[in-house]
Amino acid sequence: MKPVKVGICGLGTVGSGTFNVLKRNAEEIARRAGRGIEVAQIAQRRPNPQCDTGSTPITAEVLAVADNPEIDVVVELIGGYTLARELVLRAIANGKHVVTANKALIAVHGNEIFAKAREQGVIVAFEASVAGGIPVIKALREGLAANRINWVAGIINGTGNFILSEMREKGRTFPDVLAEAQALGYAEADPTFDVEGIDAAHKLTILASIAFGIPLQFDKAYTEGITRLTTADVGYAEALGYRIKHLGVARSTDQGIELRVHPTLIPADRLIANVNGVMNAVMVNGDAVGSTLFYGAGAGQEPTASAVVADLVDVVRAMTSDPENRVPHLAFQPDALSDHPVLSIEACESAYYLRIQAKDHPGVLAQVASILSARGINIESIMQKEAEEQDGLVPMILLTHRVTERHMVEAITALEALDDVVGDVVRIRVEHLN
Ligand code: HSE
Repeated sequence: MKPVKVGICGLGTVGSGTFNVLKRNAEEIARRAGRGIEVAQIAQRRPNPQCDTGSTPITAEVLAVADNPEIDVVVELIGGYTLARELVLRAIANGKHVVTANKALIAVHGNEIFAKAREQGVIVAFEASVAGGIPVIKALREGLAANRINWVAGIINGTGNFILSEMREKGRTFPDVLAEAQALGYAEADPTFDVEGIDAAHKLTILASIAFGIPLQFDKAYTEGITRLTTADVGYAEALGYRIKHLGVARSTDQGIELRVHPTLIPADRLIANVNGVMNAVMVNGDAVGSTLFYGAGAGQEPTASAVVADLVDVVRAMTSDPENRVPHLAFQPDALSDHPVLSIEACESAYYLRIQAKDHPGVLAQVASILSARGINIESIMQKEAEEQDGLVPMILLTHRVTERHMVEAITALEALDDVVGDVVRIRVEHLN
């Protein structure tokens, strides 16, 4: 059988990794796919001296790959929303299958892209868009198809996890670790996407759609980054038996779907609390299976290439099948997607860690407790430290039971208005994941 011809668009970290893995494992991949997979064209805007592309035809015109009649599958690895969207839509219009690692593109334009792909009867595969080399999309879409998914919680940004791990373990500074993550090719072109949680929100949007059978709704995801975390809070969390991780949480409730990315305290004895460095991990809780945990490299050249090439193998196996009988892009049949709403952050519920800087006066704790109890907020534990030498203020750390964000925001406003409370109250959400 003739090999399937692939055009790789973008020869950066992931593109060159994909080229190399396809070349190195060509025989093994052909044994799996049933046909060879040949890179017949590469589009690259800048040469990549790290990648020996041999005699493979190269073009600087990305869209030329979508128009090349020789190409069966376009692999989109250029990133971004604009040219990538044009490329993918053009490839689909030309009847080509698409493999992409572009989470921003899928989270923001996925509904449009999948609708066009259905019209044309082509596949758009995007395993590499979430959690790098971990096959979590396949697991959620196919392996867990029996379940009603209750929640998904994941460390899904390798750069952010690398930064938090290095800061906690080695006391390194934020800019120093970020620079290393950029040099290693983990960070996004705009690293604020990593540290402000936008990249994780793109991935969580995709996971939530596949988990709950809802359209992609990135604009409704709540996003909070890690830039305001202090070493003091990391230390207090440890003392209370928790680790702070930048977590994406998607939870199905009767009222709607929670979709939120933020720093989160997790009990230190949970496996996911011990996922460090650039590694990612995604927990999925289903009604039949219970909790599952998927772990692996969430970024990097060959781990991400591993997912791209697995998608290529899937496409090659399915390209001759009846489009109606293929696995739906978002796991559920397109006419069976649900309109269960995505909740605003005010309506979301979690436990909280609060750090209050209080004057060392009698009765402050009683006032704090009274504000919380008036709003039905149950305190789980309190830790009060010695007054700090420089300012004489007493750090008071509280853990609460679960409460809606709306009630917690009201309580924090009241706490900050107390004469004996100085500055902002620090609040970090807590998830027990049990
Ligand atoms: N910047 C992303 C990360 C790359 O650090 O996880 C993989 O999506």
